[in-house]
Amino acid sequence: MSILGFTDIHCHIIPTVDDGAQSMEQAQEMIRIAYAGDTRRIIATPHYGTSRAKASAGIIVTRFRELLRWTKDNYPEMELFLGQELSYRHGLDEQLKRGAAFSMADSHYALVEFQPDDEYSRIRQGLQAVQMAGYWPILAHAERCQRLAANVDYIEELVHMGVYIQINAKSVTGENGWQCKSCTKKLLKRELVHFVASDGHDTKKRIPSIQKAIFHISSRYGKKYALKLSVVNPGKVIADEFIE
Ligand SMILES: [Fe+2]
Repeated sequence: MSILGFTDIHCHIIPTVDDGAQSMEQAQEMIRIAYAGDTRRIIATPHYGTSRAKASAGIIVTRFRELLRWTKDNYPEMELFLGQELSYRHGLDEQLKRGAAFSMADSHYALVEFQPDDEYSRIRQGLQAVQMAGYWPILAHAERCQRLAANVDYIEELVHMGVYIQINAKSVTGENGWQCKSCTKKLLKRELVHFVASDGHDTKKRIPSIQKAIFHISSRYGKKYALKLSVVNPGKVIADEFIE
C-alpha cells in the first residue's frame, strides 16, 4: 500500500487574514511546498476568535477564492477547502450555527483550539458545547494543551466522548520540543490520534508539509495507521462522513 495524496486539515494558507501567509506570493509558495510534499488536498483554517484573526468572514471567503483560482490554474491536482481554527470561547456554538464561524469544508466537523494552559474541565465543557450544537469537534494540536499532555488519560476520555484528536506534524518529528514529542508518542501508541496536520503558517519555520511525520508514523506504527491519519480520516471530513 503506497501513501500518496495526503490531505492536510489544518493550515493557515489564506493570505493576510491571520498570522499565516502574509501575501499572495507566500501563499502560492506554500502551495508549492505542500504539493512537493505529496499533499493534494488542504483545508484552509484561518484563526477565529483570537487576536491572531485579522479579517471578517467576507474577506476570508474573497481571499480564499483568489487563492483557489490561482491553485486551479497552476496546480490542477491540488484541491482547497475552507474551514477555520476556532479558538474556544463561550458562545462559539451559536456562532457556528449562524455561520459566523466556519466548520470544516462545510461539514459537521469543527476544528477547535484551546489555550495551552487551559484546565481540563474547560476543554471538556467547551467541546461538549460544540457537540450539543450538532458539530463533531476536532481538538487542534491536542499535544500542546499542557493539562492533556501531562495526563493522556484525559485525551482518552475525550475520545470516548466522541472528540477527534489532531496532532501537529512537527510534534511527531520532535521539532516542537520533547514534551510535545513524548505526548504524541503516547497518543500514537494508544491509537488515540485521528489526524496529523501541518498547522502550516509560512514557507520556512512552520511549513505546510506532513510528509516527514507520516513516513515516521508509517515506519514505527504501520502504513495502515499512517494512511488513516493522513488520507482516510481527512477524506471523511471532506465527505462529511462520521468517523467510527
Ligand atoms: Fe493553527
